[in-house]
Amino acid sequence: MRFLDFLFPKSLRPGRQPAPPADEKDSQLNVYNYREAIKEPPAHFSAIRFDPNNTCNLHCVYCHNPRSDESVSAQELMDFIDSRVLAVKHFQMGCIMEPTLDKRLTDLMLAVSKSRAKPTETFMLQTNGLLLNKHDFGKMREAGLTLLSVSVDAAEPDTQKELRNGTSLDRVVRNVRAFREALPEVKVSFITTVTTSNIAKVSGIVALGLDLGVKQFVFREVFYHPENDIVDHARMPGLLLKPGQFQGMRDEILGAYEGQAEFIFADSVSISTYIEKIKTDSLIPKH
Ligand SMILES: C[S@@+](CC[C@H](N)C(=O)[O-])C[C@H]1O[C@@H](n2cnc3c(N)ncnc32)[C@H](O)[C@@H]1O
Ligand code: SF4
Repeated sequence: MRFLDFLFPKSLRPGRQPAPPADEKDSQLNVYNYREAIKEPPAHFSAIRFDPNNTCNLHCVYCHNPRSDESVSAQELMDFIDSRVLAVKHFQMGCIMEPTLDKRLTDLMLAVSKSRAKPTETFMLQTNGLLLNKHDFGKMREAGLTLLSVSVDAAEPDTQKELRNGTSLDRVVRNVRAFREALPEVKVSFITTVTTSNIAKVSGIVALGLDLGVKQFVFREVFYHPENDIVDHARMPGLLLKPGQFQGMRDEILGAYEGQAEFIFADSVSISTYIEKIKTDSLIPKH
C-alpha cells in the first residue's frame, strides 16, 4: 500500500516522508479562484488540481459541489502558469467537476504539457468515465498523461446507478477497456466513495478492476456537510458509515487482495481536513 502526493499531502502522512518545502503549494485552480490566484507571487507546486469547466453530466447523491456554465479560458490558464508557476510535481485535470464535458480537454492538456506546468511526476485525469470516448487518446499520450482515475462505486449496475445518478456502469467499463487498449502504458485507478449502500460490495469493484488492468484502488469514506445546499439531505444520513465500518472494509480488502494492486484508503475526517487544506493553500476564497 502506498500513499500518493497528489491525493494526500505529505503533511497528512504521519512519519512517512519528509515534509515538502514550506513554499510548495497544493492548490486548486477553477472558475472560483483563477482571477485571484493569478495575483499571487510565483511558487513551486506539489500539485495543481485544475477544473477547466464547472459542470457535470451526473448528480451523484453525495456530491456537494455547486455548478455553473462558467469556464477558465486557455489564455487564462496560460496566464496563470506564466505568472505563478515555477514548477509542478502533479497536475490533475478535473477535481471538483467533470472535465470530460469540456471539449477543450485534450488541447488544454497539450498546452499544459508544453508549459512550465508540465508535471515532473504525475499527469492525471479524474473523471466519471462516461464521456472518455469523446476525447482524443492520441493527444492524451502526446501530453504525457500518466494516470487515469475513474470513479466507480459498484461492480453491479443498480448500486452504481443509485449512488451515481443514472450512470451506465457498462459504458464506463467499455470506455476504460478502450482506453487501456489505446494507452496501455497509462496507469488506471478506480476511486470509490464508500457508503452504506456499497460497503458490502466493494470487493466486486476490485475484482472488476483487476480484470480490466486497473493497478490502483482508492477508497474514500463518504463525507457529509449538513450545511451544504447542494447535496441530497434526504439520503445522506443513511449513507454515512458507522464507526469502525471503514476500517473493517479496509482490512477485508487488504486481506483478500493485498499485493495484487496498490490500495489507498482515506476516511471522511482526513478527506475533509485535506479539502480544507488545499483550499487554504490555494490562496483563494473558500467555496
Ligand atoms: C467531485 S468528483 C469530480 C471528478 C469527477 N466528476 C468524478 O466523479 O470522478 C471527485 C471525487 O469525489 C468523490 N466525492 C464526491 N462527493 C463525495 C463525498 N461526499 N464524500 C466522498 N467522496 C466524494 C467522487 O465520487 C469522485 O470520486
Ligand atoms: S461526484 Fe463527479 S460525477 Fe458525481 S456529480 Fe460530482 S462532479 Fe459529477
